[in-house]
Amino acid sequence: MTTTTIDLAAIRARFPALAGPTVLLENAGGSQVPEVVADAMHAYLRDTYVQLGADYGLSKRCTEVVQQAHDDVRVLMNGEGIGEVVLGPSSSQLCRMLADCYAEVVQPGDEIVVAESGHEANVGPWLRLEKQGAVIRWWRVDAETGSSTVDGLRAVLSEKTRLVTFPHVSNLLGEIVDVAAATAAAHAVGARVVVDGVAFAPHRAMDVKAWGVDWYGYSTYKVYGPHMGALFGRTDAFAELEGPNHFFVSRDDVPYKFELGGCSHEGCAGLVALGSYLGFLAGRASYDRRTVEEAFAVMAVHERPLQERLVAYVDAHPRVRLVGPRHGGAERVSTISFLHASKTSREISLAANAQDIGIRHGHMYAHRLCTALGIEPEDGVVRVSFVHYNSPADVERLIEVLDAVL
Ligand SMILES: Cc1ncc(COP(=O)(O)O)c(C=O)c1O
Repeated sequence: MTTTTIDLAAIRARFPALAGPTVLLENAGGSQVPEVVADAMHAYLRDTYVQLGADYGLSKRCTEVVQQAHDDVRVLMNGEGIGEVVLGPSSSQLCRMLADCYAEVVQPGDEIVVAESGHEANVGPWLRLEKQGAVIRWWRVDAETGSSTVDGLRAVLSEKTRLVTFPHVSNLLGEIVDVAAATAAAHAVGARVVVDGVAFAPHRAMDVKAWGVDWYGYSTYKVYGPHMGALFGRTDAFAELEGPNHFFVSRDDVPYKFELGGCSHEGCAGLVALGSYLGFLAGRASYDRRTVEEAFAVMAVHERPLQERLVAYVDAHPRVRLVGPRHGGAERVSTISFLHASKTSREISLAANAQDIGIRHGHMYAHRLCTALGIEPEDGVVRVSFVHYNSPADVERLIEVLDAVL
């Protein structure tokens, strides 16, 4: 299969949940898994559910599965040779764990730049470092467009900046931040960057090497996998921190030093199986970096017309405010949020739900961003998010409902 011969029916057939009647347009909340992932997790639990690290055969196999999952995710993120991947229960947990580690090394007066566009998972943990004497500087959004520009970041950097933390894509706006430029600006003043890649990772190939980031996290359950989180860290960034694991786990035993209590073993089996789905998309038998890049290129090609159709529809509506970029295309992902001039987001969302269309409304944990954009957070926005397995028919069904309700 190439990027021009994508067969949507064949893709959808790999996801058992897509055979159901519900139109799933809440993928920024969580994606479906291909059957191969669900089967691998089931088989792991059924046949090989023993503890890691012992010397009998089954235990050795389980140890290998968990190691393989770390290796595969590192390939997914393009982190080979420059760092390691920590696996944990969620991005929120991993972010908090990282901030707790930094709490031991930040000095009073160190500045931490936090993005106003962030999901709270990557905001609140850093604000806690104020207790250690850190000074928070905000990377503000444009109150009209919601954009976070690299110039806006440069304006709050100084020689005191120790850390810069921001989302690669806002989970509300869908706009892709120039992560390489933001990272270069932060590095120019000697700061490390922590990037929340959760809203980017389902749509495009991650590339921590090309971007030069120090830390980059995403949620595996939004990228066609089990409910876990993954955090890449560069070798030199890990070396500055003491991981939370027990005293007898050596400081340089990375990633294990940062995996207190380990990670989901059956989830690791699912992560390994995801490689074969990406191979199917890429038309390649082996799982390697080329497979990842080609698989995500296929995804992007498929998503684009759907994204353009819905963005154009929403933007053209006289009583609707599209929040985020007002055009489809390569600079955004297929996460589209909007508000109506007189109807509540809840009303609109419920109207779609009544037709078995899975969307939702609210602040999506980007609470501070809503406030900055003048949006009442509880009612928030209506958010529609699709991924490569959604069909043109899914979008048309939604538009039919929106035509009626808006
Ligand atoms: C942009 C973004 N960051 C972080 C998170 C938190 O991820 P998790 O549910 O894995 O803790 C989410 C979850 O929706 C998100 O959308």
